[in-house]
Amino acid sequence: NFPVPFTSPFRVPPTLRPYEWGEDEAGRFARYSVVERTGTAAIVPGLVTPIAGYNGLFPGPTIRVEKGVRSELRVRNKLTINPLHGNEFATSTHLHGHASRPQYDGYASDVTPPGQVKTYRYENVQHARTMWYHDHHVHTTAKNAYSGLAAFYLINDEYERAQLPQGRYDVPIMLTDAIFARDGRLVYDDGGAGEHDGLWGDVVLVNGVPWPIMDVEPRVYRFRILNAAVARSFRPTLSDGNPLVVVGTDGGLVPYPAAVPSYRHGNAERYEVLVDFRGHRPGDTVDLLNLSNANNDDYDDTDKIMRFRVVEDHGDPDPYVVPSSLDPGPAPYGMNIFDLTEADVTYPRRRRLRVNKEGDPEEWVINDRTWHDVEASGFTLIEGNPAPGAVEIWEVENTGGGWFHPLHIHLSDFLVLGRNTNGGKPFAWECGAKDTVYVGENERVTLLIPFDLPPGNDGGRYMIHCHNLAHEDHDMMVQYAVGDPTV
Ligand code: C2O
Ligand code: CU
Repeated sequence: NFPVPFTSPFRVPPTLRPYEWGEDEAGRFARYSVVERTGTAAIVPGLVTPIAGYNGLFPGPTIRVEKGVRSELRVRNKLTINPLHGNEFATSTHLHGHASRPQYDGYASDVTPPGQVKTYRYENVQHARTMWYHDHHVHTTAKNAYSGLAAFYLINDEYERAQLPQGRYDVPIMLTDAIFARDGRLVYDDGGAGEHDGLWGDVVLVNGVPWPIMDVEPRVYRFRILNAAVARSFRPTLSDGNPLVVVGTDGGLVPYPAAVPSYRHGNAERYEVLVDFRGHRPGDTVDLLNLSNANNDDYDDTDKIMRFRVVEDHGDPDPYVVPSSLDPGPAPYGMNIFDLTEADVTYPRRRRLRVNKEGDPEEWVINDRTWHDVEASGFTLIEGNPAPGAVEIWEVENTGGGWFHPLHIHLSDFLVLGRNTNGGKPFAWECGAKDTVYVGENERVTLLIPFDLPPGNDGGRYMIHCHNLAHEDHDMMVQYAVGDPTV
């Protein structure tokens, strides 16, 4: 029953409709509701896979909002069992990429038990961007997200609309990998106690479909690529030798698109790329392949992602000109991140985060600490307390040992200033606003972070963690605070 690459049709997750929308004193709003529940998915031909998902879908439904229209997301936990860990399970929902107030940020220890409901409020004032909502429950994030609790959340705005392909030429792509048992069940294996190194499946899924095939017209497409895998990193490349033109990163449009032959895509990072199929004729195929990165386990077909099959153009020839620069629009609040330089850095300027595996028994740690230490401190232990409006340099160092760590800092977008492994410079594809950064073995990365708070957000505690979800759960997560550290 092993799925055969390039045979299943490509699909995009359904869009979630608001159940109510309108305008009040505070402006326009839209209200959404999802139910976390178990369900089944047809992923491997001929087999049924038990999953847990938002509205029982794998992956969940996409939420699309307009910048400035606030949203409320009511999440009802109706999960009685998790197909992977059996017990009833609690959840915490994080909108990854959104500068949420602390109480709506999916704090790992702020849990919603089965039978309960939590309504999250999002202002959506940031630039147009590709985000995703996923479970963030303490110690079971990996199993919960792997069993299906992950979905896209897109903010659109007039800048992105004026400059990038739209409609059916704007395509979200969620990459994951999975291991299937003979009966179709998902297998979760991260090495178990004492290891928790990660999970590397032999099946690559795109929007929950194994190596799909997608019909494309000879036009320019925008793909919003998200790596939602537990631990695998990807290095996408096209089989026809054409470049991937990076036009967006975690925080939205980049000022200068970068045409790259391939790029390294760590967990939770989003890259928006343009692909130009205009040089192809109907009947041609182009494959999106995966060149391997260090620190992954590869299998026969993990070098493939999906196939494009070129069909007739449905309209006039596409006149789109791939832009050499983009305008993300004015800063939605605070400083314009793209204007910042090291000269803007405020006291105390520099903080360090050392990420590795240490101790006896060995554990995944950040600055020798784990979330267990944070819990044991009564949640008072913080790695830093930048003032609202501060600009700092954070240096993240991975001292090696055979692992890479995709490090995610909640709340604030940052710029990658430099990398010791690339002649001191960031890679061409990371020249945009980021919230997650790939820190490879023996890499040292410097980040420039403005800690601006959006209107209505008084600050508080936010998580910092590795987005290899097996590392995160065991127990590679700490916190920092902007403004009041007791909130
Ligand atoms: Cu995508 Cu703290 O998470
Ligand atoms: Cu890690």
